[in-house]
Amino acid sequence: MYVSMTDILQDAHKNNYAVMAVNSINMEMARAVISAAEEERSPIIVNIGMGQMKKHAHANVMVPMIKKLAEEAKVPVALNHDHGQDLDFIIKCIQDGFSSVMIDASSFPFEENVHRTSTIVKLAHPHNICVEAELGHVGQAADGDNSKADLYTDPEQAKKFVELTGVDALAVAVGTAHGSYPKGYVPKLDFERLALLKKTLDMPLVLHGGSGSGEENIRKAVACGINKINVCTDAFNVAQKAMVDRMAENPKADYLDLCMTAEAAMKEFVKNYIRVIGSNNRYVFGEAKIVGHE
Ligand code: 13P
Repeated sequence: MYVSMTDILQDAHKNNYAVMAVNSINMEMARAVISAAEEERSPIIVNIGMGQMKKHAHANVMVPMIKKLAEEAKVPVALNHDHGQDLDFIIKCIQDGFSSVMIDASSFPFEENVHRTSTIVKLAHPHNICVEAELGHVGQAADGDNSKADLYTDPEQAKKFVELTGVDALAVAVGTAHGSYPKGYVPKLDFERLALLKKTLDMPLVLHGGSGSGEENIRKAVACGINKINVCTDAFNVAQKAMVDRMAENPKADYLDLCMTAEAAMKEFVKNYIRVIGSNNRYVFGEAKIVGHE
């Protein structure tokens, strides 16, 4: 079933678990992600970023396809525009049928972030579109941004931000970053800050940079209040590795074979991640609700 991210995240917030949001740029990824969720009886979020949409995953094809997959799925599926930075592009996503959008104005000063975020909230809410925003800044692993504490989210400022904007979910910076960390490096997360953010805000919190962050960190982040975890790099790497391994095994493997191999590998990866963050068995087939959702 195709739903707004609000339905999914409110239940996760209430029942202390997290839902994966996987950046998906083609049919194989979207289908792998949604069928993994179905097999695990888990809600799921399909993410697509602006760069990904402009380069390859064009909305005119992706949105109807994902909505069709979602409508046929026995679990709740949301489609979220990830890291929206261009207001016109976000509005276009709402018009195109996304059920959720992120407005990422986290690189701007506080007042401008509030202004841009509340503009999108006012446009989105009348259409039941969920809005995620970011305060503090989750940067790039390649730049070491994960350990720059001045980028981390301040709980009191976050409280003010949520009051002023009316946003539905907040992406917080607590020690992860986007992309690949140096080999063997596991980031150190500020769990105290995260627990305080949860206590202060009492709302769905989002962790970006879910790749390579270490299973123990991810489990603890969920225990401290994270309800949505964005994963991109690891899913892309799993698909690429599956294709490379398949080619090594059979250099004559054709394109169909490679696509199917990648899809199967991504599905397994998502199923495992879902179990780590505890969103499995949250949905009972045949009941029109998420378990625990009122
Ligand atoms: P990773 O690529 O590090 O998993 O980050 C994904 C993300 O946060 C997308 O918004």
